[in-house]
Amino acid sequence: MCLACRNQAKAEAARDEIVRRTPGAEVDVLSLDLSSFEHIHRFATDLAARHERVDALINNAGASPLKQQFTVEGFELQFGANYLGPFLLTHLLLPQLRLAAEQTGDARIVHVASVAHNIGRIDPDTFRGRSKYRPFPAYAQSKLANLMFNFALARRLPDGLSTHAMHPGGVDSDIYRELPRPVHAALRPFLISADRAGRLGTELALSPEYRDRSGEYLTAQRPNPVSRRARDVAAQEALYAESAVLAGVEPLTRR
Ligand SMILES: NC(=O)c1ccc[n+]([C@@H]2O[C@H](COP(=O)([O-])OP(=O)(O)OC[C@H]3O[C@@H](n4cnc5c(N)ncnc54)[C@H](OP(=O)(O)O)[C@@H]3O)[C@@H](O)[C@H]2O)c1
Repeated sequence: MCLACRNQAKAEAARDEIVRRTPGAEVDVLSLDLSSFEHIHRFATDLAARHERVDALINNAGASPLKQQFTVEGFELQFGANYLGPFLLTHLLLPQLRLAAEQTGDARIVHVASVAHNIGRIDPDTFRGRSKYRPFPAYAQSKLANLMFNFALARRLPDGLSTHAMHPGGVDSDIYRELPRPVHAALRPFLISADRAGRLGTELALSPEYRDRSGEYLTAQRPNPVSRRARDVAAQEALYAESAVLAGVEPLTRR
């Protein structure tokens, strides 16, 4: 297992916890900052040098800053780091994922999207920032893009390599760290544990139940509506093509 994280101290603490709970587990920690294309390329090179094969990639990282921030390449941070960074990373890891699919017949990609995609709109004029920044529409756009990428990717991957998207539920995690305390306190009773949310991600990556499925969107907490915008195939294709240009990767052709 490889933990790809920007904060090495937190990553090492997580590794220690995994090893404590699962003695003998082999856990590699590598540095990855999804807000920099250069960093993502460096991570992919480091990973390729250490692991010939990738059986499952879980694109989980996400941020939701209340003030507008930007990636190194000048994208609004939520579009850039929640969506475009994982888009680039996924394409860079395809050789190792394909090898796993060829050797085992079962390699998987998991995208952590959100029910918040329902209020999202894909607006290319905001990819590099908003003159009036509001954090939630920016977050919702990034999560809508995660989901649309899942659908577009499912039309492109070879047999044995599947893609799955999930809503983890409203999760009691650090993502709400910037909310005012009373708002957070009001929200908490409705949130589920990170363990429960993480279980779905693990199942999508490993369980035989999802082995021969691809392009689905599952949830750890109902309801889980899928917006009309997310299901729009022409919009998925347009976003996929534009993202490939922005991330500087060769687009995959449809099967
Ligand atoms: N919590 C919810 O209710 C909820 C609901 C729907 C969807 N989600 C999604 O679930 C996923 C996990 O979020 P969470 O709730 O567990 O929040 P979290 O506790 O804040 O975890 C997010 C993780 O993403 C990492 N991250 C953020 N920006 C990064 C970057 N540029 N490069 C590398 N790593 C980065 C953070 O790293 P640091 O540790 O260094 O900060 C953190 O470990 C996200 O995709 C989020 O959108 C969450």
